[in-house]
Amino acid sequence: MKTPLKGVFNGAFDTVDNIKISPFSRAYTFSDSLYEVVPFFNSTAIAFDHHIKRLEFSASQLAMAVDLKKVIFEINSLITSSEFSNGYVYYQVTRGVDPLRSHIHEPNLKIETFGYAKAHLFQWKPLRVSVCDDIRWGRCDIKSTSLLGNVMSMNAAKLDNCDEVIMHKDNLLTEGGASNLFFVKNDSICTPALNGNILPGITRALLINELKNYNIEVIEDNFRLEDLSNASCAWLTSSTKGLAPISEISNLESHFDLYHPLFKKSEEIFNKKFLS
Ligand code: PDD
Repeated sequence: MKTPLKGVFNGAFDTVDNIKISPFSRAYTFSDSLYEVVPFFNSTAIAFDHHIKRLEFSASQLAMAVDLKKVIFEINSLITSSEFSNGYVYYQVTRGVDPLRSHIHEPNLKIETFGYAKAHLFQWKPLRVSVCDDIRWGRCDIKSTSLLGNVMSMNAAKLDNCDEVIMHKDNLLTEGGASNLFFVKNDSICTPALNGNILPGITRALLINELKNYNIEVIEDNFRLEDLSNASCAWLTSSTKGLAPISEISNLESHFDLYHPLFKKSEEIFNKKFLS
């Protein structure tokens, strides 16, 4: 029999099946929720402080009073009490439960929290992706659970046997459906610059910083779809994918070098720092 998934809801640890949520939770009615996905390796969270800082930023943008000490305690407990040493914690913070559905929430609702740990390892798996219009809202820098734009695009791409999408707004590259984008052009590593249209990915930041320590520059700028179609290699980063090379872009007929020296170097540097 499969062991039931364990989680924590409003501070109480239990199996996820036992957790009861009100249909008036604003997570349910409005996606008025934030989340983090915190990877851990050898039972230690990777870049925990970065995740907490990003949650703090997201909460400040939504004026949600999140008890970060409680969040840190619960994520740590999920990691240390799990039967596996490599995985990730999903942790969600919701504004609370309304007495009745209403766009404008009551003041000082009781914040609702939910988290669980899942066994997971970064896998070396080349990705087939497609490019698509970025149909999302203008505050993608907030890590909100409102992800319908990403969900619609990724599921449409799945019908074409793609694992991920790369989005663009009027030809300006933004990011993956659940990841950030890197590519190599004229022997330089490039990535779209941070702005309201992309999530400031933790894996992205860790990689840029580590490469800097090896004197390898990453150009953060506005890039266009043509830059990507002319790239020699490309990869996506996230807390669940790590660094995942892109083999092809189905609707641009672009094929990339999976063993490009700059990708191999990035992978080696990242793995050495965070996965050994
Ligand atoms: N997603 N951009 C988007 C839209 C994302 O959803 C994610 C991560 C990233 C990468 O961020 P990070 O390196 O901090 O994981 C970029 C998580 C993993 C998810 O939704 O499951």
